[in-house]
Amino acid sequence: MPLKMAKCVIVLNFKTYRESTGDLGLRLARLCEKVSLESGVPFVAAVQLADLSRIASAVSIPVYAQHIDNVSFGSHTGWVLPEAVAEAGAKGTLLNHAEHQIPAKEVEALIPHLRTLSLSSLVCGNTVDVCRSLAAFHPDYIAVEPPELIGSGIPVSKAKPEVVSGAVEAVKSVNHKVRVLCGAGISTGIDVKKAVDLGAEGVLLASGVVKAKDPEAALRDLVSQL
Ligand code: G3P
Repeated sequence: MPLKMAKCVIVLNFKTYRESTGDLGLRLARLCEKVSLESGVPFVAAVQLADLSRIASAVSIPVYAQHIDNVSFGSHTGWVLPEAVAEAGAKGTLLNHAEHQIPAKEVEALIPHLRTLSLSSLVCGNTVDVCRSLAAFHPDYIAVEPPELIGSGIPVSKAKPEVVSGAVEAVKSVNHKVRVLCGAGISTGIDVKKAVDLGAEGVLLASGVVKAKDPEAALRDLVSQL
C-alpha cells in the first residue's frame, strides 16, 4: 500500500543502538519488512547512514536517512549530501530529530530540495507550537516528540494525549496535507491505537522495538490493534 494512502505508518528509528547497527540493522530491517508484508501496515526504517545503501538494496520497505545536511555538491567534508543519500537508495529522511536539531531555516531550505530528489521529509518538533511553525514549510510528515519522554518507555499517546491531538490540529490548520505522527515512549499496539485515536497518522519509535528482547514480537504487537 502506498504510504500516502495508509491510515497509519510505523517509522522505526534505528538510532545508533548496537542492536540496530551493521548486520543487526539489516536483520532488523528485514523483520520490519516481514511484519509490514504480513500485516499490510506500512513501515519505514530510518537507518544509520553507513548502513543505508546495503539495507535499502535488501528490503522492499522505504528506508530513510536519520539526517541530511543542507549542502550541495562541492567542498563540504563530512557533511551529508542529499543527492548522495538519494543515490544510495533512500526514500526520505528524518530532519530536526530531538537528538539532531537543526535551525528552522535549514529545514525550510531542505524540504523543497529533497522533493526535487523524490525524498520524503519527516520533520520532528518537540512542542505543538514548533510543529505548527514547521507545517509552514510543507514537509511530508511532522512527528511531535516531547523530548522528556524519548526512551522513557512512557508513551506520549498515554502520558500527553493533548500534545498529540494538539499537534494534529495545529499542523492541519496550516496545511492539511502534512501527515502528523507522534513519538516518544511508544512500544505497544495499544500505544499505537491510542495515537491513531488521537488523530495521529502514524508513529515514530525506537527503543521499544530496537531494545526489545524479541524485536519481531514487538513489531507484531505494534500492528496488532490496527
Ligand atoms: O525517533 C524516535 C524517538 O525519538 C522515540 O524514541 O525510544 O522513545 O521510541 P523511543
